[in-house]
Amino acid sequence: MMSNRARRWNLILAALCITSCSTDADPATLSGDGGQLAVPADAQPESGGSPRALELLLSETDLYADISIGKLAAGVQEFRPAYFLWTDSATKRRFVRLPPGESIDSSDMDYWRYPIGMTLWKEFSRENSEGISVRLETRMMRKVADGDWQMIAYVWRDDLSDADAAPNGLSDARGTQHEVPSETDCRSCHRAIPDNVLGFTAIQLSHDYGGVDLQQLIDEGRLSPPPTQGFSLPGDPTAQLALGYLHANCGHCHNPLSPFSWDTVTDQLSFWLETASISTVTETSTFQSVGFRTQTATAGLPPWRIAAGNADDSSVVYRMATRDPDLQMPQLGTEVVDTAGLAAVTAWVESLQP
Ligand code: HEC
Ligand code: HEC
Repeated sequence: MMSNRARRWNLILAALCITSCSTDADPATLSGDGGQLAVPADAQPESGGSPRALELLLSETDLYADISIGKLAAGVQEFRPAYFLWTDSATKRRFVRLPPGESIDSSDMDYWRYPIGMTLWKEFSRENSEGISVRLETRMMRKVADGDWQMIAYVWRDDLSDADAAPNGLSDARGTQHEVPSETDCRSCHRAIPDNVLGFTAIQLSHDYGGVDLQQLIDEGRLSPPPTQGFSLPGDPTAQLALGYLHANCGHCHNPLSPFSWDTVTDQLSFWLETASISTVTETSTFQSVGFRTQTATAGLPPWRIAAGNADDSSVVYRMATRDPDLQMPQLGTEVVDTAGLAAVTAWVESLQP
């Protein structure tokens, strides 16, 4: 279940959602017969004509040619980021459709701008209490105007024949403990990065694990301007693992462009890696937390954001290791500690020279 703390957090974020967010869809906006959801009032047409409304069924989006056998539509490709967001051991598949002939504006290599009409999907599966993997939901993001994305989750039917739009999210989906996020939740995580995409980026696609990667985008002329090389994280493997983990799991809230990184509480707390200009660990914004006192100091809690060589005194480690709703990090999207992620960050903190 979502904690009260997480609910309060959502309200704060919803209130901040002034210019580029759609209004929260409520069930009354489901038109039923038309097969479409309400369109954000400020959505712009893709290329003249009317903006495309959100579909009620996953099969009506452009993901599948044949949903019954999972055959992808022409132009849809699978991809994976180099570093994953932990969602309580859910397994995920990700898909992308770049509109034909369009390219991504990569003039700021750390913050790409995507073409209108670009669509990404993310499918979630998780084990139920009997240990059987259940396909739960597929999320969709579609760009409708600069900086404005439609975002919605579709919950799979028991017979897997299709998945139904769930604009308000869903608790304990399909007999598991999985929480399907509402549209507001989507934006809470995705909106603090200028063009809202978090895992289809220069740093996250600099890998050769298969699926669409940076080199393929360069070869296909999809990046404008194209980078001359891929990006690797600075440091030894221990540092790379921790920096990559913190980037993927924390950077979407804690980054220089997010209002939450620079206010009085979380002053200068950033885990987002700006790779294009960085070659050493000490240059990363993450490293600024080493030897920086916590702003939320409470008796009995670690005094430093990161204490070099001392995980016990490091708030970053403490906040990752707790699921106390008032203190846990991340604040959203997880109810179970990620032991592997925690081990990776702990190992890096312990490896730093005091
Ligand atoms: C807890 C924060 C969080 C919430 C809530 C969330 N996302 Fe994401 N999402 C992420 C992160 C981080 C990534 C990239 C890392 C990954 O995929 O493992 C991502 C990736 C995606 C992707 C693949 C494209 C990309 O940005 O990398 C899609 C599509 C997506 N999310 C859609 C949604 C939709 C739709 C919702 C709401 C129904 C939603 N997300 C809610 C954090 C979140
Ligand atoms: C959904 C947004 C969100 C995500 C994701 C997130 N945080 Fe936070 N974080 C916050 C907010 C808001 C605060 C300030 C409120 C508080 O202290 O709980 C905060 C505060 C903190 C603080 C306290 C800073 C201080 O000076 O006292 C630490 C440390 C921290 N986060 C670490 C992390 C780590 C590590 C991750 C990833 C594992 C993470 N956060 C992911 C929103 C987020």
